Amino acid sequence: MADQKATNIIWHQSEVNQAAREELLKQKGVVIWFTGLSGSGKSTVANQVANDLHQLGKLTYVLDGDNIRHGLNKNLGFSPEDREENIRRIGEVAKLFVDAGVITTTAFISPYRKDRDKAREVLEDGRFIEVFVDCPLEVCENRDPKGLYKKARAGEIKGFTGIDAPYEAPEKAEIVINTNDLDLAASTQKVIDYLSDKGSLS
Ligand code: ADX
Repeated sequence: MADQKATNIIWHQSEVNQAAREELLKQKGVVIWFTGLSGSGKSTVANQVANDLHQLGKLTYVLDGDNIRHGLNKNLGFSPEDREENIRRIGEVAKLFVDAGVITTTAFISPYRKDRDKAREVLEDGRFIEVFVDCPLEVCENRDPKGLYKKARAGEIKGFTGIDAPYEAPEKAEIVINTNDLDLAASTQKVIDYLSDKGSLS
């Protein structure tokens, strides 16, 4: 699906560019890519980071798996191929947001390392910040906020990540958050401290 089909297309360079927008916004466009099991806390932390930064006067946007699958990616399911396409599209959307200068948080299981690495590759070095939301399966399954683990165990959902579909943990994540040990405030602060140290907030 990722192959180039269109021909005779020529890139148009905008006069107002990323650097100009970043100057206006007093921030750097980055994507903070949260990956982890369903129920690990990706969306919760991704939203809290966006909220806290908004309070600090930063322009943020959250791209969330369940939400994006209601619209842009509504034609995709959970086969490995569909998940690959899901992540490819989000990688491209995130690239646009980064070009707009927005601090973008994404919350997708994104279970395959190669798909996440491809999303990293479409961005400049330093603009893709991978956050591994590391939470044991037993804990996620106990939380089961949407009741989906129960359904997966009962065989009502096939190919559920962590049950009968794989999750490949990151090997080089910029940030690791163990939401079983850290509360929401501490998890959020860890991400904001990282952005602050890297100069993304100025
Ligand atoms: S991803 O694997 O392609 O990155 P994504 O984050 O977009 O997944 O969507 C995951 C969400 O879809 C889960 O939080 C859950 O609510 C729902 N879901 C439905 N079926 C599955 C499944 N088979 N595996 C994982 N999540 C599923």
